[in-house]
Amino acid sequence: MNVGIDKIGFFTPNYYVDMVDLAHARNDDPNKYLIGIGQTEQAVIPNTQDTVAMAANAAVQILDDDNRDKISLIILGTETGIDNSKSGAIYLQNLLGLSRHARAFEIKQACYGATAGIQMAKDFVNLHPDQQALVVGADVARYGVETPGEVTQGGGAVAMTIAANPEIMKLSKNSSVYSDDIMDFWRPMDRTEALVDGHYSNDIYQQFFVKTIHDYLETNDMQLTDLQALVFHLPYTKMGLKGLREILPEVDEAKQKSLLNEFEASRVYSKRVGNLYTGSLYLSLLSLLDNSTDLKVGDQIGIFSYGSGAQGEFYTGELQAGFKNPIRKANMEKMLDSRTRLSVSEYETMLNQWPKLDAGDYTLDVKNDKAEFTFNGVSESKRQYQSKN
Ligand code: COA
Repeated sequence: MNVGIDKIGFFTPNYYVDMVDLAHARNDDPNKYLIGIGQTEQAVIPNTQDTVAMAANAAVQILDDDNRDKISLIILGTETGIDNSKSGAIYLQNLLGLSRHARAFEIKQACYGATAGIQMAKDFVNLHPDQQALVVGADVARYGVETPGEVTQGGGAVAMTIAANPEIMKLSKNSSVYSDDIMDFWRPMDRTEALVDGHYSNDIYQQFFVKTIHDYLETNDMQLTDLQALVFHLPYTKMGLKGLREILPEVDEAKQKSLLNEFEASRVYSKRVGNLYTGSLYLSLLSLLDNSTDLKVGDQIGIFSYGSGAQGEFYTGELQAGFKNPIRKANMEKMLDSRTRLSVSEYETMLNQWPKLDAGDYTLDVKNDKAEFTFNGVSESKRQYQSKN
């Protein structure tokens, strides 16, 4: 049976900072950010959009009369969850009006959580082909003003439905995984900003990529040339390029050129949004689907997921008849193009307005937030959300 990604939707809030502006403010050469890091714009997340609100804003785009009643598994992959106990998936179920007869829970393993959710959802749908799963990767990537990680911040959510006979992509039965206890990126319980050993993380990412892709190709009796394109977890887009360059010497010049072209298509959106943590890989998949001009039905796409700490997984997907969707692409471009460009000082103010962990009860002003779902503050230690519809 064919099981895979049936629909995919994305949300990022209405603000960004231009990376040339940020480079000037930090007395850096803009080309370090544009070429060395591979980012042109970075999403700035207002305090009225948290992981749950962004997840709901992404998911609502892919729910319809057909799939709404079939969804009986709701998984939120996140490493910036909003509660130490209750999962964001339960809030999501309620905000989206999904069936109460569903399993709803959250998965954490750094940027790998959404992939864990997809794999679990795939197995679930294989057993229950009449049902569907909603898997969302949502995060706010924060390192802080004037930190080395500042150029790799961002935020947003990618939502996917996993179904039998999917419109977009059939997922491979097998995958290759590799994990090890690595301190490359973590966020202690008392912090809202992550700690990262960025250069070490780069090295581990590349090692895990090479190990898992080679293992996958060998155990599934495939060649690199069988893959039309590769998509990567993109905390910043240069990181995926570094991974790709590790394996390019294994194919001839024409294939190298083709893989590099597809990679450019896969990083169009991430360049403009920055890091989404769990959603980053799937934003690069969405970018590939929307921006590649060479893909066709039946093509095999290699998918590399990485979550610091660290877990790697490589699997593949086969494009299905509905993988191109001009309306989805137009909406995506509209969302990105209509954002407000903040000055660096406005961005710093917004970043520093993020609620402290011990902020207690507070009410946020949501009138400037045009998104359908907003986070409105905390009352009696309970988070408050609002749907504008
Ligand atoms: N023009 C073009 N490229 C330039 C340049 C210029 N003027 N100046 C520097 N560069 C290049 C460097 O050569 C380097 O390229 P390379 O990675 O291919 O070697 C790149 O820009 C970055 O420069 P570097 O000096 O390494 O930057 P940095 O020490 O500020 O660190 C990160 C960059 C990405 C490591 C840092 O921002 C970070 O730790 N981010 C967090 C990453 C993360 O989230 N990891 C975990 C999740 S998987």
